[in-house]
Amino acid sequence: MDQIEGVFNGSFELVENIKVSPLSRAYTFSDSIYEVVPFFNSKAIAFDMHIKRLLRSSNELSIALDIEQASKEITQLISSCSSENGYVYYQVTRGQDIIRTHMYSKLMDIETFGYVLPFSFKTKTLKVMICEDIRWGRCDIKSTSLLGNVMQMNSAQKQDCDEVIMHKENILTEAGASNLFFVKNGTVCTPGLSNNILPGITRALLIKEIKKINIPLIEGNFDLTDLSNASSAWLSSSTKGLAPITDIVNLENTLDTQDPIYLKCKEAFDYKFFS
Ligand code: PDD
Repeated sequence: MDQIEGVFNGSFELVENIKVSPLSRAYTFSDSIYEVVPFFNSKAIAFDMHIKRLLRSSNELSIALDIEQASKEITQLISSCSSENGYVYYQVTRGQDIIRTHMYSKLMDIETFGYVLPFSFKTKTLKVMICEDIRWGRCDIKSTSLLGNVMQMNSAQKQDCDEVIMHKENILTEAGASNLFFVKNGTVCTPGLSNNILPGITRALLIKEIKKINIPLIEGNFDLTDLSNASSAWLSSSTKGLAPITDIVNLENTLDTQDPIYLKCKEAFDYKFFS
């Protein structure tokens, strides 16, 4: 990969030149939160919503982030990108311990780290696997503690899948790195917000567009039977956009990537954000 532009604690440099301490709590406890901010034609998509969520995540963990500074750094990374389309990864870590200890000192300085990558937002179709949601109880915080997601997504990879759809005791939550939507009896369904899912920005943007075009939509509790009766399903995220699911390997159903309701949602979303 080409050299990657980054920023660490306010200094802009190539990622390969950034040095972090092994006693950074990002390293020992995964005590950090992050954002992924996409940009298209050199303009961030829903910048304010990403910044608001970054602030919320840091507030939930009592990490004192300077949000003005973070916003400036993200904006500067976007302008330094060699491509007009891409995304910024931005992470905020509680800081470095003198020696590893669960209870942190209040005197620590936070660490911030970001980088920018070119990215082409091409629609990809997905093959997915259903699995249990084995994650912690605060998945609404965009934390870097993602081992549950990593474990499940890598068992899916062994089944030649691109993603997972997770459920907690049969109730659908979300995917490994995206939110879930499906169409059942002509209505778009998506799991409602709770501590068990990330409040996806793409999810929120899409819901707004779906309401504008008067397609019926329900946010609520759905189970695996609902999904097996779906006529189409897709995942949403800042990097995937809307990605239609072709096949769920361990659930009986037939999904149509040309389902007219899915196509209308996709058209409305792409028109608003990628044209
Ligand atoms: N992932 N749910 C999870 C668990 C996610 O990790 C993501 C995003 C989403 C979608 O959120 P948004 O629409 O705000 O991107 C839902 C990012 C892209 C990642 O970790 O790379």
